[in-house]
Amino acid sequence: MSETVYEVRDVQQTYGGRTVLRIPHLEVRQGEVLSVLGPSGAGKSTLLRLLALLEAPARGQVRFHTGARWVTHDTAAVDDRRQITMVFQRPVLLSRSVQANVRYGLRVRGERDAHARVEAVLRRVSLDRLAQAHVRTLSGGEAQRVALARALVLEPRVLLLDEPTANLDPANVGLIETLIREQHAQSGTTIVLVTHSIFQARRLATRVALLIDGELVEVAPAPRFFDAPQDARTEAFLSGEFVF
Ligand SMILES: Nc1ncnc2c1ncn2[C@@H]1O[C@H](COP(=O)(O)OP(=O)(O)OP(=O)(O)O)[C@@H](O)[C@H]1O
Ligand SMILES: [Mg+2]
Repeated sequence: MSETVYEVRDVQQTYGGRTVLRIPHLEVRQGEVLSVLGPSGAGKSTLLRLLALLEAPARGQVRFHTGARWVTHDTAAVDDRRQITMVFQRPVLLSRSVQANVRYGLRVRGERDAHARVEAVLRRVSLDRLAQAHVRTLSGGEAQRVALARALVLEPRVLLLDEPTANLDPANVGLIETLIREQHAQSGTTIVLVTHSIFQARRLATRVALLIDGELVEVAPAPRFFDAPQDARTEAFLSGEFVF
């Protein structure tokens, strides 16, 4: 359970000359739910894009262990990248049916028994009745569940979730949190969950990282992070003294 999946070393990410992320060291371990908390603009989505190997850092290294070897943004093969699936903060769905959206990734990968897998996932996310519906007719919560279903059907080893419940009502938040919990319990999927919500991190995370202004302020097992924070900024964040 303690194998390292990611190693982030001396990483900086810079956009237009502005450094928005500085991480001397961070590891993500096999089978954990690492929640990344932090105020808006802290660099959470940037960190997730680096872990997804979608971007190369301006400095330093983000290394991903495939099970056989270490790879980076520059060296990862298609099959290596396919171990990682990211659900974006603002998912873009194909202008097609729910079913077509969920099937798409499997089609691209040339998977055969796609139909049965798509049906099973749609049942899991309670969208089986809407399988034929066009995504433009969906509510926000339903669309978010399609985005999650599209990721789950690929059975990734690593799931990167960027605020998967932002702007949803409590019922949909509950549904999505249950899916995340099940995925972790049943498949041992390594999950990095970006969220604004301290409560969500409490409910789901095994370990928590707090990012403020591009710096990792504290990384600790969830119980210690919440009950005995070491950094004054973590305490301030937990008591709601940070302005979002
Ligand atoms: N592609 C980009 N080009 C220029 N600036 C960017 C780019 N991506 C991110 N930034 C900037 O980097 C900083 C961190 O952005 P990021 O999206 O990682 O924050 P975040 O923690 O995810 O915020 P939020 O909670 O609002 O989603 C912001 O100031 C943002 O404007
Ligand atoms: Mg973000």
